[in-house]
Amino acid sequence: MRKSIVDFKKQKETQDKITMVAAYDYPSAKALDEAGVDIILVGDSVAMVLLGHEDTLSVSVEEMLIFNKAVSRASQNAFVLADMPFMSYQSSTYDALQNAAKFIKIGRANGVKLEGGREFSECIKALSRASIPVVAHIGLTPQAINAMGGYKVQGKSKEAAQKLIDDAKAVEDAGASMVLMECVPSKLAKKITEILQVPTIGIGAGKHCDGQVLVYHDFLGLHQGFKPKFVRKFADLNPNEGIKAYINAVKSGEFPSDAHSFSLENDEWIEQLY
Ligand code: KIV
Repeated sequence: MRKSIVDFKKQKETQDKITMVAAYDYPSAKALDEAGVDIILVGDSVAMVLLGHEDTLSVSVEEMLIFNKAVSRASQNAFVLADMPFMSYQSSTYDALQNAAKFIKIGRANGVKLEGGREFSECIKALSRASIPVVAHIGLTPQAINAMGGYKVQGKSKEAAQKLIDDAKAVEDAGASMVLMECVPSKLAKKITEILQVPTIGIGAGKHCDGQVLVYHDFLGLHQGFKPKFVRKFADLNPNEGIKAYINAVKSGEFPSDAHSFSLENDEWIEQLY
């Protein structure tokens, strides 16, 4: 049975931690789904992790839809959460509804995530009214990188912390089904988790959130770039060794061997062909 926001609310009540992973393709989503992860986020981090952009701003709705479709095809049980890319909801509530509808109808997602607090209350209300579950992402919001001036921990002063609490309450009041907090001090994330009725998901927000999210490629060590403080490598699937072994085997003629080749029973006639 596919997980739903009703299950996540119960998990908050019973303190059964919610697991979310950002992943973008069929094989990753299949592995996550079969392993029993609760939510697969088709994150706009795909722009950086898979498409090689320097930030998340360039990825389009059309590109995100390709990844959403792949993840949805692979997922039987996990809730598929579509990340709304930059400028797919900021321009107007109408655009937000139209684009979210694409993620639900074409991408077959079960809900959408957008970055922002109280300034998106109207948008969250409209999406919720259309029965589209919304996850509101607060704290460090990478789509605001140019306004924030860097990937920094948020809510460090009393005023900034109060603003985050107010944002969390406002998005919950507007109908958000969950609140995702990125790079928020652990104690503040705990406070917000206690205040809210809806579940919280943390990334760089400490252990007191109702659930956690990490990027697939980060926690499996699938890429060797910058590793933020909040990432723990649960495996080191660094492909370099395998790639080098492949190159060496091809160059030395050791691969492919007969075991990896096809042959016919009576094939002498092949010699006579020209
Ligand atoms: O795009 C993404 O992967 C995200 C997570 C880091 C929360 O938004």
